[in-house]
Amino acid sequence: MMDLAGAYERFLPLIEEELRQVLRTRHHSLAPYYGMMRYHLGWADEQLRAIETNSGKRIRPVLCLLSCEGAGGLTSQALPAAAAVELVHNFSLVHDDIQDGSRIRRGRPAVWAIWGAPHAINVGDGLFVLARLALHRLTARGVSPDRCQAAALALDEACLALCEGQFTDMAFEDQLEVDLDQYLWMIGHKTARLLATSARLGAIVASDDEHLATLYHRFGQQLGMAFQIQDDILGAWGEEAVTGKPSATDIRDKKKTLPVVYALNQPGEREAALQLRALYRQEGPLDEAAIHQVLAILARTGAREYAEGLASDYYQQALASLEATGRENEAQATLRELAGSLLGRQA
Ligand code: IPE
Ligand code: IPE
Ligand code: MG
Ligand code: MG
Repeated sequence: MMDLAGAYERFLPLIEEELRQVLRTRHHSLAPYYGMMRYHLGWADEQLRAIETNSGKRIRPVLCLLSCEGAGGLTSQALPAAAAVELVHNFSLVHDDIQDGSRIRRGRPAVWAIWGAPHAINVGDGLFVLARLALHRLTARGVSPDRCQAAALALDEACLALCEGQFTDMAFEDQLEVDLDQYLWMIGHKTARLLATSARLGAIVASDDEHLATLYHRFGQQLGMAFQIQDDILGAWGEEAVTGKPSATDIRDKKKTLPVVYALNQPGEREAALQLRALYRQEGPLDEAAIHQVLAILARTGAREYAEGLASDYYQQALASLEATGRENEAQATLRELAGSLLGRQA
């Protein structure tokens, strides 16, 4: 029986090895450049000495490999795709921390907080291109040209959607009128699409059945929605010691996270909505006192319970999409376990 812990045990060393091959230093003079990437991935300390520390959860590559097995394919063939989605994710985090002014990532200083934004932008760019180069390795694993092309197209579309979502997330900082549909569009692009594509790439490597790939995509998309909503919940109420990121920064930056969007648009809570709107009309970031008031209003309106309920709805939809694939094997059961573990996660 391959439970989730077993899957992680089996997959993580393979994923790390694939990533390390893709990230090899091209020339000794570039050791500090690749070193910053290795730092971000949790393989190096600030002096770029080799260590092993928090590398993140590696959810996207695990999702990719399990979807490949679920769809009847071989893990070994999907490893380049698994590395690619993890590198895209990490490119987006390096840039996201600059965009969000977040100094802490995975419990350590963000790349830009140590080496400055100019280097961090270039580190993110390098990770982005390495993701595409990682995907080219599918050919050497015997994946057909048609499937390689389908995979490349899906990854590029996901990268663009992610950037569109990031644009919208930032634009919303200065916008008071953000409704639920606009919020869902934004997280569907910035976060869910890459999880959808992680699952889709696994299915593409396994099979030529486009409908099957679409169902895995849908599973990943719905799971990704639940995942970002949980991230929003942690962004307001998470423990920094567990998440590795300071909790109040989303509120400080007037991010339109789900609890905030809910409270801003609550007709039944007119007073709370008005107070919140007054706070969010202030120029620039919110100070400590304002952050405190926002959290109190969110608590009063039941915004957290609402967000938990919506995350749970998406989780149920994700399970239904997985079921619709008509596949039943150990990997499918493990995918269900993975989905369950993400709902209510604390980190
Ligand atoms: C954080 O993603 C950013 C979001 C898209 C919510 P993860 O929670 O997967 O980050 P790591 O890789 O585990 O640190
Ligand atoms: C997550 O952005 C989406 C991407 C990085 C593309 P967030 O800003 O919501 O994620 P955290 O909370 O910083 O990890
Ligand atoms: Mg951020
Ligand atoms: Mg962000």
